[in-house]
Amino acid sequence: MIETKRLILRRIQIEDAKDIFEYSSDLENTKYVDFITHKSLDETKEIITKIFIDDFEGKYGIVLKENNKLIGIIEARLKENLVDLGWIINKNYWNKGYCTEAAKEIIELYRQKFNINIFTASFKEGNESSRKVMEKLGFTYKNESFNKNNIKVKNYILV
Ligand SMILES: CC(C)(COP(=O)(O)OP(=O)(O)OC[C@H]1O[C@@H](n2cnc3c(N)ncnc32)[C@H](O)[C@@H]1OP(=O)(O)O)[C@@H](O)C(=O)NCCC(=O)NCCS
Repeated sequence: MIETKRLILRRIQIEDAKDIFEYSSDLENTKYVDFITHKSLDETKEIITKIFIDDFEGKYGIVLKENNKLIGIIEARLKENLVDLGWIINKNYWNKGYCTEAAKEIIELYRQKFNINIFTASFKEGNESSRKVMEKLGFTYKNESFNKNNIKVKNYILV
């Protein structure tokens, strides 16, 4: 478990299903993500088991200290000498600095504990809030590419 000023970053558990469903089932909240918008709480539970419990490495629930609510997830995908970051925050909690606060802590953790010094992150064209988070974290633009659905993606890097 990791603590920041306002957040707890911890392993995701099945009891988080309601909180994860709340934003994963919302069209606006999932517009730019790589997963398909959830259709039922049961589907969310299946995904939690398969993706976040059976394969928990680098996946952290972002929990608000003030009310113990899970408001998002941050993922650190370790790829040889670098870590690729991904994130989502419940739209009711956007623009309060929570994603940046969580990401800063995860970057520090991977720097210190795993000696990783290269971080990457990508966003789909139009996802300005994600770009802003990357810039606030010190990432710089690297290049653009097309993902498997042929959507233009901007790739950023922090060294
Ligand atoms: C991207 C996301 C995780 C950011 O979470 P967050 O907790 O709101 O992020 P922060 O509050 O730390 O920073 C957001 C910044 O974006 C800015 N922002 C928001 N909308 C913006 C827009 N349309 N244009 C420019 N900047 C924008 C905010 O003002 C804020 O910057 P500031 O602190 O300088 O004011 C959140 O918007 C989200 O979950 N989006 C949907 C899922 C998603 O797209 N995930 C990423 C896939 S790559």
